[in-house]
Amino acid sequence: MCGIVGYTGKDSALTPVIEGLRRLEYRGYDSAGIAIPAEIGKPLFIEKRSGKLKNLEDALGKTPKSNSGIGHTRWATHGGPTDTNAHPHLDNEGKLALIHNGIIENYEQLRYELEKKGHKFKSETDTESVVHLLSDARKENNGDLAAAMRQVCKQLKGSFTLLAIHADDPTHIVGARRNSPLVVGIGDGENFLASDVAAFISHTKKALELGQDQVVDITPTSIEVTDLSGQKVTGKEFEISWDATAAERGGFSHFMLKEIYEQPKAIADTLIGRLSGLDLKIKFKKFNKIVIIACGTAYNAGLVGKYAIEKWGNIPVDVELASEYRYREPSLDKKTLVIPISQSGETMDTLMALRYAKSKNATILSVCNTNGSTIARESDAVLYTHAGPEIAVASTKAFATQLIAMYLIGLEVSRKLGTLTKNEIKQISEELNQLPAKVEQILETVEPLRQTTRKFKSAESVLFLGRHVGYPTALEGALKLKELAYMHAEGFAGGELKHGPIALIDQGTPVVAIMPTSGSLLAEKMASNIQEVKARGAIVIVISESDFAGADHFIRIPKVNQLMQPVLSVVPLQVIAYEMAVARGNDVDQPRNLAKSVTVE
Ligand code: F6R
Repeated sequence: MCGIVGYTGKDSALTPVIEGLRRLEYRGYDSAGIAIPAEIGKPLFIEKRSGKLKNLEDALGKTPKSNSGIGHTRWATHGGPTDTNAHPHLDNEGKLALIHNGIIENYEQLRYELEKKGHKFKSETDTESVVHLLSDARKENNGDLAAAMRQVCKQLKGSFTLLAIHADDPTHIVGARRNSPLVVGIGDGENFLASDVAAFISHTKKALELGQDQVVDITPTSIEVTDLSGQKVTGKEFEISWDATAAERGGFSHFMLKEIYEQPKAIADTLIGRLSGLDLKIKFKKFNKIVIIACGTAYNAGLVGKYAIEKWGNIPVDVELASEYRYREPSLDKKTLVIPISQSGETMDTLMALRYAKSKNATILSVCNTNGSTIARESDAVLYTHAGPEIAVASTKAFATQLIAMYLIGLEVSRKLGTLTKNEIKQISEELNQLPAKVEQILETVEPLRQTTRKFKSAESVLFLGRHVGYPTALEGALKLKELAYMHAEGFAGGELKHGPIALIDQGTPVVAIMPTSGSLLAEKMASNIQEVKARGAIVIVISESDFAGADHFIRIPKVNQLMQPVLSVVPLQVIAYEMAVARGNDVDQPRNLAKSVTVE
């Protein structure tokens, strides 16, 4: 939800700012803009354009040479995606520029008071109230922008990352954060501020985490972090474990395709060193239930987790949509283990559900992909997935590694509660270890599926059927297709079909069916469900580990433990969604209306 970047150093700022925006564009692409000091004391140079970063780049004519600057890529909340609503926003003198990620909840009240004082507003955004407030506060604090930022943050309600630069003091960039991400990139004679380390990864691998309600003031050679009372705070430094090439497309036509193909490695990296046990410092024996909270794809991973953790650990598991959870005042206490799952670690719905659970004394074990993210930092323990940077907006390799995290937690619970024998644990571990090779095998044989998919590009709607863990997999397949191909798609539990959804089937409706492990009772039931839709005119694409006579199109996946089947069966579903989006001429990596990291509720 909005990407933010700031640079101050020895080089011309334009290059690292635009490069940073390019790497952060996955966070929002409704508009993009930059502010660069032209001459000390003179109005800042500003360029901003609605639409993708490319529009901004095309509009950039001659820009002043400057060693500092800030840039923003927007996912619109308040005010449509127009040039005027694009960030940065300026004070009335045009000397102070501000960019923002998040929502300022009390902006209307602030705007009313500021307009009464004579401030002139140009946009419909919540952000513009903050730049005017900051401008007054800076004057009150004798030009000290960091002190002004602290003062302003105390007046703001909501969630935000803010970055500001002033023409009178152009080497300083001041940032602040509450509930939205901001990291410092520590360079040599240059420093960075950004929503995500990807923005500066080609310049430095040293970063600094910022805590809640902290203000940071960077110059090329200094980084000062304070809390809102002005007390100095020591931030936590960390080393970024991946390099710039991980955030490049590397010969693939889209990041999503690259990330689909990175799944074997991501799974192997997430498993490595963990099959003999997890170092979590959590007393599993004290819990009488587990609650998984997550959104979207991560929620679908949680649904699969329920099957595995309940089966192996013999403990009740509920899976909750994070955005709904706290509003129904659920019953939980210190005997509840809450597992938030989040690729970004910044999803506001998940964070708020986590905080609710904490307030009820539950223990929090999060599953996150982003080191040092807010959800990770606010948890009692973290199991990091090692998917590496996921740039495409649609989640693929992060989902695969979230599934692995679920199995690892299921195994750990069973180890700690003694619900599986040593032999059973060994057998499961071996099966998990084989997953990377099995995913690789599917990737080597998906080409015909790409051809098949194109045949359905004009379908009105596509249905996905599954049973057992195939059901959450079907939900994930439908979600991918909706977000990428903009087609109506729904996932159903096979047995549920006859209770209503079968009315959707018409001549030629494509139905993607995920067959449970062959020979099982579930497989028989699913076979009947397939016949039911075929009898009503559906064209059925069957994903199965063994031949299926009634299939119009057939995709083979390797044999695997039923609980682990989603790791394999989701791969063809990802390919279908990808291919359909390409066939329909959609923007695969940046689908309309979406953003990668959803930092508003
Ligand atoms: C779908 C997708 C989203 C995310 C959801 C949660 O492809 O990417 O549904 O899974 O917004 O995001 P995280 O995992 O960052 O909390």
